[in-house]
Amino acid sequence: MSIVKINVLQVPEGRGEVLEQRFASRAGEVEKVDGFESFDLLRPTEGTDRYLVVTRWRDEDAFQSWLSSDAFGRGHAQSQADRTAEEGAGAGHPGGHGGSEGGHGGGGHPGGEAAQGGGHPGGGPAAVGSELWGFEIVTSATRASD
Ligand code: HEM
Repeated sequence: MSIVKINVLQVPEGRGEVLEQRFASRAGEVEKVDGFESFDLLRPTEGTDRYLVVTRWRDEDAFQSWLSSDAFGRGHAQSQADRTAEEGAGAGHPGGHGGSEGGHGGGGHPGGEAAQGGGHPGGGPAAVGSELWGFEIVTSATRASD
């Protein structure tokens, strides 16, 4: 049975649009990855202000391979480069701690000034924090065709 990995992103007010555009422009990156099944970027409307990146994979190995792949690095290169430039220190592979149980995705700098103050409207990561959740699918259903 497939597994589900959810990246939970903390996005300051006003940065959601930037985040959404970045995801839209990189969506194609993951589509051909072995073991990838689907992803949805979910915008919060009630009960939380965090965005969810809900991803579905064939198995844990497929997800871990993607995390350590160049494809993942490329897809996240923009925010990584911005962070390195702004802070003068590489924050490492975003999500690089994803394999450790309950580990954080390496969001880097919660409360980063650039991202919060709107001082750099375009640059820098839109997300100021992230957390990885993992699940096994227990039961599924989709609507039967008429
Ligand atoms: C569960 C799997 C995933 C993990 C662990 C993960 C990891 C992360 C982390 C830690 C961040 C916030 C830090 C940063 O800005 O780099 C982030 C942001 C982002 N991720 Fe992922 N990601 C996942 C899935 C995806 C997928 C499927 C895509 C789309 C193909 C994607 C594209 C992006 C984009 C565009 C950002 C926004 C960067 C920003 O402006 O803040 N991620 N991801």
